[in-house]
Amino acid sequence: MTVKRLVVDVLKGESVFPPPVWMMRQAGRYLPEYREVRRNAGSFLDLCYNPDLAVEVTLQPIRRFGFDASILFSDILVVPHALGRDLRFEEGRGPLMTPVSVGDIEALDGKRFHVNLEPVYETVRRLRKELPAETTLIGFCGAPWTVATYMIAGHGTPDQAPARLFSFRHPESLEKLLDLLADFSAAYLIRQVEAGADVVQIFDSWSGVLDEASFEACCVRPVERIVRQVRAVYPDVPIIGFPKGAGSRYDTYREKTGVTGLGLDWAVPLTQASRLQTQGAVQGNLDPLRLVAGGKALEEGVERILDALGAGPLIFNLGHGITPEAPIEHVEAMLRQVRGSRR
Ligand code: CP3
Repeated sequence: MTVKRLVVDVLKGESVFPPPVWMMRQAGRYLPEYREVRRNAGSFLDLCYNPDLAVEVTLQPIRRFGFDASILFSDILVVPHALGRDLRFEEGRGPLMTPVSVGDIEALDGKRFHVNLEPVYETVRRLRKELPAETTLIGFCGAPWTVATYMIAGHGTPDQAPARLFSFRHPESLEKLLDLLADFSAAYLIRQVEAGADVVQIFDSWSGVLDEASFEACCVRPVERIVRQVRAVYPDVPIIGFPKGAGSRYDTYREKTGVTGLGLDWAVPLTQASRLQTQGAVQGNLDPLRLVAGGKALEEGVERILDALGAGPLIFNLGHGITPEAPIEHVEAMLRQVRGSRR
């Protein structure tokens, strides 16, 4: 790669100021041009599996804001879908699946996995051609635990009680499911890198609901398994781990999984973030609701992050996805502040 991609440089340990910036869920309902495509696309899943439309919505926030990174438009739940589980998204309810039983886990079938995901690989190939050369392309998957929580409950829940209960009642079956998801997720990430992704991110949105032993078994171990398999094929590809809600366990997560960079949720104290940053790049961690509120709340939030973390390897981002209510002018204000900052 001859051209400079700042997000990759930061993940390799370089400190860049002002830091590169992108937002989780940057292609989404806060953008009128996304809502327009979405209206005409049929279902959300149709959009994920249609390379013309998926490329279009991935590029929308890049055209509008010139973010330093672009994240593939898809969803973490295409992995179980490609393994033969049913999946639909209902307006206002999020994902809906038939809950897996112990027997269903035995029957999961990966024979058509890559065939089913071919439209996603095609989207990545086209994105790498169409994106500006300096824009980092990020591929992603869900972490096995987070994906498993939706497979087990069949829908989103506030605390993933169904999956936690399943893990205590059927530990062997859960372990089997997590290992299988880890192996297919690793294969999925490897194909995304082959197709042109520069970086991959592993979303573990529900790692914060686990007790200490379960965190180790359900979050750390399967993610380490993915990292090991991806590195065996692509030793240099940066991997961002995002164990949302991991709190004091961010340290052990980084150490034991071997991820290159850490995505930080907004609850991570900046003193802890700054300590974590001595071990490698961090990404985050503005509360997405500061972006909704705008004004002083937004300015102060941005300033604190830049002050605390600007001297080290930092990718400026939100602490979770942007919400549909966030006004576009606030995104613009955030970018002006980050990009205009001086040390
Ligand atoms: O960040 C991006 O712009 C890339 C695309 C992306 C989506 N989902 C698109 C999406 C990514 C990286 C995801 C990851 C994802 N999906 C996660 C992990 C990150 C997180 O948010 O915690 C999870 C848990 C899911 C599962 C999922 N998908 C849920 C719970 C929902 C419903 C909630 C909601 O916001 O509606 C989705 C739907 C979804 N995924 C949307 C988008 C743009 C909204 C669907 C729509 O446009 O109608």
